[in-house]
Order: sequence, then structure tokens, then C-alpha cells
Amino acid sequence: MPEPLVIDGDTRVLVLTGAGVSAESGIPTFRGAGGLWEQYRLEELATPEAFARDPGLVWRFYSYRREKAALAEPNPSHHALVALERRLGDRFLLATQNVDDLHRRAGSQRMVELHGNLFRTRCSACRREPFEDRRSYGPDSLPRCHCGALLRPHIVWFGEMLDPSHLERVDDFMREAASHRFVFLAAGTSGAVWPAAGFVEQARALGAGTWLVNADPAENTARFHHFVQGKSGEVLPKLLG
Ligand code: OAD
Repeated sequence: MPEPLVIDGDTRVLVLTGAGVSAESGIPTFRGAGGLWEQYRLEELATPEAFARDPGLVWRFYSYRREKAALAEPNPSHHALVALERRLGDRFLLATQNVDDLHRRAGSQRMVELHGNLFRTRCSACRREPFEDRRSYGPDSLPRCHCGALLRPHIVWFGEMLDPSHLERVDDFMREAASHRFVFLAAGTSGAVWPAAGFVEQARALGAGTWLVNADPAENTARFHHFVQGKSGEVLPKLLG
């Protein structure tokens, strides 16, 4: 460990997590080895165009991911973040790019799911609220809304906007944190997908000390003050303990 991460009675901590924190729970990352599903790359499946072209294929992919995530268990990374949240209360916020529900299952509460949640479904056309859904679908069992349109996973696909209220919550947290000791910590994310990849820049501009915990260097490693290379399930409990 290069130097201790100081979290005192004044500190605000914003944590950003990505697929790497679920890797030790057995859920494959997107850009690493095992990042392909069947022969498809994520970019060929996680788009509105892919869903329009072949909703059965896209549902089969998300059903597979539902099944995989439902069988997985939170790991020490998730638990370390829950322990930190319990210590800090409202001085803590978790923004996750993960859709696997493992943070919630571990006990995280002050959390923004930037990319949606695997276990929620919504209508592709009408304004019906997203609802909890753990079922599997495929080409022969495409789910439809009461309005007749196809139902789709409640996931932010490539080319789609994030929920503005989620970004607002992150912005508000950063703004409040700026007048205190402010720590921004990213873990298990390749720094390749925006806007989350830009949080480090925003946080730095507001005076945060910035930390990256990742198995490999990320695309934006140079933007962080501190880089701790390693598995998040091993590093986070020590760093935050
Ligand atoms: P990536 O798959 O791009 O990156 C995962 C990162 O985690 C890599 O940099 C790995 O080196 C690192 N890693 C792997 N195992 C680790 C471990 N045990 N401990 C720590 N780090 C580890 O995943 P994301 O950055 O999350 O969006 O990808 C961002 C978004 O791209 C995803 O949320 C997904 C995709 O578009 C949606 O599905 C909407």
C-alpha cells in the first residue's frame, strides 16, 4: 500500500465502481478475457439498434446475465463499501456502472445505478414505470407490455442518455463535498465509458484526492493522484479498513 487513505470526521467519499469489482464474484468483465458472449461483443448487443434488429438475441443475452448474476454472491469489495457507508452515512455516495445488483444485495443504500439494473424491465414505448423482473426471455418468448410494445431490459445502452437525476445526484454530492475533505475512489473500471470516466476530472477540479484501485491500468489512470494496482476484493478492505 503506497500511502494511507485518510478518512476523518470531515471526509466525504464518492466511490465509482465498474465490472472489475464483480469479477471476484465470477461475473466476467466487459473488456477483459471472457468479455465476449457467444461470438458477440458487448457493442453488438447493448444498443437500441441491436434490440430493434433482433430483440430475441438481446433478451437471450440479458437473460443469461440475469441467471449468472442471480447465482453470484457479493465479494469483499462489496462488503468493504457497505462498511464504509455505515461509518460515513450521508458523507458517502456510491455510483456504480454495474447492473448486477450485487452492491444492493451486499447492503449498499446510498447508491446510484448509472447504467440501470439487470433485474428490472421496462416498456420500449410507453411511460410505464420500470418493474422488478427476474424472468428469462428469448426469441420464442418475447415479453410485451399492456400497450402492445415490446418490453426491454432497464439498462442504459450505448448511445442512450443516462438518467439526468442520477448525474444530478452525483454532481450535488461533489459540490457539497468540495467544501470538506473530499475523496474520489474508482475501483474495477477501465475508464473507457463516459460520463463515468470523467468523474475523476470533475472531482479533481473540486479539490478531491483521487484514488484508482484496478487490476490493470485504466484508460484514465494518469488523471488519478494514486493508483493501487490489484484485485479490489483484496485492496479495498485494506485501503478502507
Ligand atoms: P470493463 O470490463 O471495461 O473494465 C473492468 C476493469 O476492471 C478492467 O480495467 C480490469 O482491469 C479491472 N478488473 C478486472 N478484475 C478486477 C478485480 N478483481 N479487481 C479490480 N479490478 C479488476 O468494465 P467497466 O469499466 O465497468 O455498461 O465498463 C463500463 C461499462 O461498459 C459497463 O458498465 C457496461 C459497458 O458498456 C453497460 O452495460 C451499460
